[in-house]
Amino acid sequence: MAKIIAGLASSHVPAIGAAIDNGQTEEPYWKRVFSGFEKTKQWMAQVKPDVVIAIYNDHASAFSVELIPTFALGTAAEFAPADEGWGPRPVPVVKGHPALASHIATSAILDGFDLTLANKMEVDHGLTVPLNLAFGSPKEWPCPVIPLAVNVVQYPPPTGKRCFDLGRAIRKAVKSYPEDLRVVVFGTGGMSHQISGPRAGLINSKFDKAFLDGLTKNPKALAAMPHIEYMREAGAEGIELVMWHVMRGALEDKVKEIYRFYTVPASNTAVGHIILDNTGGSAARRPAKKAAAKATKKKSKAKARKAA
Ligand SMILES: [Fe+2]
Repeated sequence: MAKIIAGLASSHVPAIGAAIDNGQTEEPYWKRVFSGFEKTKQWMAQVKPDVVIAIYNDHASAFSVELIPTFALGTAAEFAPADEGWGPRPVPVVKGHPALASHIATSAILDGFDLTLANKMEVDHGLTVPLNLAFGSPKEWPCPVIPLAVNVVQYPPPTGKRCFDLGRAIRKAVKSYPEDLRVVVFGTGGMSHQISGPRAGLINSKFDKAFLDGLTKNPKALAAMPHIEYMREAGAEGIELVMWHVMRGALEDKVKEIYRFYTVPASNTAVGHIILDNTGGSAARRPAKKAAAKATKKKSKAKARKAA
């Protein structure tokens, strides 16, 4: 059966993507940001997930402001990078996993989550920047990715609790998928930031760090936080953090926090990142099927010799 082995959350600041695309990652300002994801890339190289489910938001790229679905699940075979005004990012096309996505759609909709199904959808920096942070800049992304776009651009976005419960529905769906797939769920966006108005540039590190603590240890209470508190404490765009609750809801109640990174600023936002192991700490140990089979064969041979 498929299982969710870990959750990862990270900011998806567009300027991070621009720094990668323009070869600025070694500049001191950006090096500080990228250095926080070196361990993540190493960890992901060990984990080698079979599928990633990426919770992100579209920034009026695939959906114009004329049509804004609250939850849109990408069921297509592939998702091309969107043109966000400077041409599409020079990153690989994102390959989907239509079979698992359809299974999630069926299970979640029958569970009461009326998802929009996106059979064709371009993906913007909200999705591709976290892929870069987790996997670097390969010629092809190392595994299929199922995008799940959440509305956080027009009020009212879904509540934290609704997002958490959607994560629970995704967890149930993945657990009932018959193929042995190791799945990692990404929650993206945030942390505290406000990009316009009198409070533009707002960053609240105290709130962000408490949010990271709560995400690991007390996720249900954290998910109950009302929108007004995000607006007040984390700035208007801090509401992106509700997407992290989808990721957290997809995990077990108890998880092992294996990595955390926080730095200020990147562009005009706080960059937060966390990795939660959903297996008690063994997500990076890939089951060595061949080695295990070999060992069993050797053992039975020795047993047979002994018996003879
Ligand atoms: Fe965003």
